[in-house]
Amino acid sequence: ARDDVLQMVSHDLRNPISTIGMTSELLLEFSLDPQEERKHLEIIRRTVNGMNRFIQDLLDVSQTDAGQLAIETHSISPGALVREACDLMRPLVEAESQRLEYVVPDDLPFVMADPARIQQVLSNLLGNARKFAGTGGSIRIQVVRSGEGVTFAVFDNGPGISPEEIPRLFDRHWRARETAHLGAGLGLAIAKGIVEAHGGRIWVESEVGQGTAFYFVIPVAPSHEEPHPDANREEGTAVGIAQSGE
Ligand SMILES: Nc1ncnc2c1ncn2[C@@H]1O[C@H](COP(=O)(O)OP(=O)(O)OP(=O)(O)O)[C@@H](O)[C@H]1O
Ligand SMILES: [Mg+2]
Repeated sequence: ARDDVLQMVSHDLRNPISTIGMTSELLLEFSLDPQEERKHLEIIRRTVNGMNRFIQDLLDVSQTDAGQLAIETHSISPGALVREACDLMRPLVEAESQRLEYVVPDDLPFVMADPARIQQVLSNLLGNARKFAGTGGSIRIQVVRSGEGVTFAVFDNGPGISPEEIPRLFDRHWRARETAHLGAGLGLAIAKGIVEAHGGRIWVESEVGQGTAFYFVIPVAPSHEEPHPDANREEGTAVGIAQSGE
């Protein structure tokens, strides 16, 4: 279990570290107008805060149990979760001239979620989408109300996954043979553990040559739940385009 935690730490700090690296490089290399510059500095700060929270959770021994972090759920806006994940992934997506957009209807119910852990899930799914879609690829997040709760979908137009590989996808250390050099095969196993700890479910649909869609569903917050202070309720349909790669 201790090894599991160590593996998760080294895995899930990689995306935020890349975000900080990319963003600081951008700030050093280009002279941006002060407003743009501020936006990038805020991304760095939020990424660092997230990493700090992650480490804090790990140090809190009561939190770690059987290689998993404990889940502490609050009533949270699904839109706020998606916007934050996309904001923090944006520097990596821009660096590869990829397109990242999200569609979140404004009438979704709040979900019962641990925001830090769901950020880990989204970061792993977005990280895979950008890694496998490659330069110029397209990534889209869509969130819908479903029978079981609220379903988050991450689409990419990468190479896809063949049907015979799908059953092993969420196993620890499993990678498709041709992509084996690209990672340790941990991201999806971590994501599955977190989603299931929320009482949810994660699955995939893919077509070779067309692309891949990862879905996860988590339960809706009971109506008596107070929204989390950071629930960050915003009005209006959120349609964000993080970056267009001409
Ligand atoms: N969006 C995707 N498109 C195509 N194949 C994918 C996609 N996401 C995952 N896969 C396949 O599933 C495997 C397992 O994914 P997982 O995230 O667990 O590991 P990884 O990305 O290879 O390594 P790590 O996440 O540890 O860096 C990948 O190696 C790849 O073969
Ligand atoms: Mg991965």
